[in-house]
Amino acid sequence: MATINVALIGQGFMGRSHSNAWGQVAKFFKPPITPVMHTVFGQPEENPPAFAANWGWKNASTDWQQVVRSPEIGLVDVVTPNYIHAPVAIEALAAGKHVACEKPLAGTLSDARAMAEAARKANGKTFVWFNYRRCPAVALAHQLVKQGKLGEIRHVRAVYLQDWASEAVPLLWRFDKSLAGSGAHGDLNAHIIDMTRFVTGAEIVEVAGAIAETFIRKRKLPVGAAGETLGAGKAGEQMGDVTVDDTVLFLARFSNGAVASFEAARQATGNQNRNGFEINGTKGALKFDFERMNELQWYDATLPRAVQGWSTIMCTHGGDHPYVANWWPDAHIIGYEHGFTNQAYDILKAIAGEEPTVPLPDFEDAYQTQRVLEAAMISAAERRPVKLDEVK
Ligand SMILES: NC(=O)c1ccc[n+]([C@@H]2O[C@H](COP(=O)([O-])OP(=O)(O)OC[C@H]3O[C@@H](n4cnc5c(N)ncnc54)[C@H](O)[C@@H]3O)[C@@H](O)[C@H]2O)c1
Repeated sequence: MATINVALIGQGFMGRSHSNAWGQVAKFFKPPITPVMHTVFGQPEENPPAFAANWGWKNASTDWQQVVRSPEIGLVDVVTPNYIHAPVAIEALAAGKHVACEKPLAGTLSDARAMAEAARKANGKTFVWFNYRRCPAVALAHQLVKQGKLGEIRHVRAVYLQDWASEAVPLLWRFDKSLAGSGAHGDLNAHIIDMTRFVTGAEIVEVAGAIAETFIRKRKLPVGAAGETLGAGKAGEQMGDVTVDDTVLFLARFSNGAVASFEAARQATGNQNRNGFEINGTKGALKFDFERMNELQWYDATLPRAVQGWSTIMCTHGGDHPYVANWWPDAHIIGYEHGFTNQAYDILKAIAGEEPTVPLPDFEDAYQTQRVLEAAMISAAERRPVKLDEVK
């Protein structure tokens, strides 16, 4: 049985979700290569040995450079803040490893470009954790569009709305431009740009009318251990400047002629993780909302008008819906963590030279998403439309 030693760089929110995925994948799926949870890196104050013991990593380290260069490691999984994706990934690729990196590919376009260039020259394969592609409902939407069920796509409406970033939340790395690159934009719009590119199979060619706003401009500096995220950090007394957006909205044109709107927000009260889209075509339409992640809404406009209407598809049928056969019986629903395990399975297939269940984004693909993010930032700053050709 072929195996691959995995190193995880980071042990925060994504450190836990990825540890769970690497631990589960060979129990629920039969990947062609079995992952061995070899080493986890964390900062000393996070107590990497305790994290390793809890999640099943064989070794713990506080030196990521040594870990990514180790001849024992085959796959490096990067789950650190955005500014440190490029140094870790590029060093790992130079050492001949396969690299899986969290999204957005990087905090800045130049870091993302350097990563895509390093990937082109490397022997190792690259992957980016746009995990929502691997919700069965989203993978089904991709398949339905590919089968022509929507006809020509006219409208794409995508939102990713959260409400965790109240004034009580301290100035975590996510509010610091030098560490995150941007705020809700890179965090949330990155996901819906990727997801709509994936579902429609088309590229965004122009961005216009972008608006960025920061509502809370100062926050209390955090105290306590690193790795606290999404509102979990403790606040001290000293204040610091927020240097990223709280919300970014923009319009776009796709290469297939569709027009689109995107909206990312961290203070959209009442929406805790509303990541969704509505796509309208000449023959039908689809709607998805992650807060009801097991369902896909389909409107079939080829039916007689008298019986046309939205139908709710429960995407939990093992025989028909991607990934589900490896989980539970019909309507024994799955959750957030399953998308990561599904992705771990596809990464292992791709490393073995097999086709993933649905397309997997690599650094080159995620660089295209990063170009759209950048185009929207330029559109917001300069108050003008931006063609993607301008953004290299
Ligand atoms: N796919 C998703 O849905 C999803 C969800 C959340 C976060 N993310 C992405 O995952 C990445 C990590 O986010 P998170 O929420 O896990 O963050 P986190 O703050 O919870 O954890 C970050 C980890 O990186 C480590 N770290 C911080 N600075 C470092 C440095 N200079 N060198 C090495 N390690 C360092 C921390 O010690 C911690 O272990 C980000 O790129 C984020 O955008 C993706």
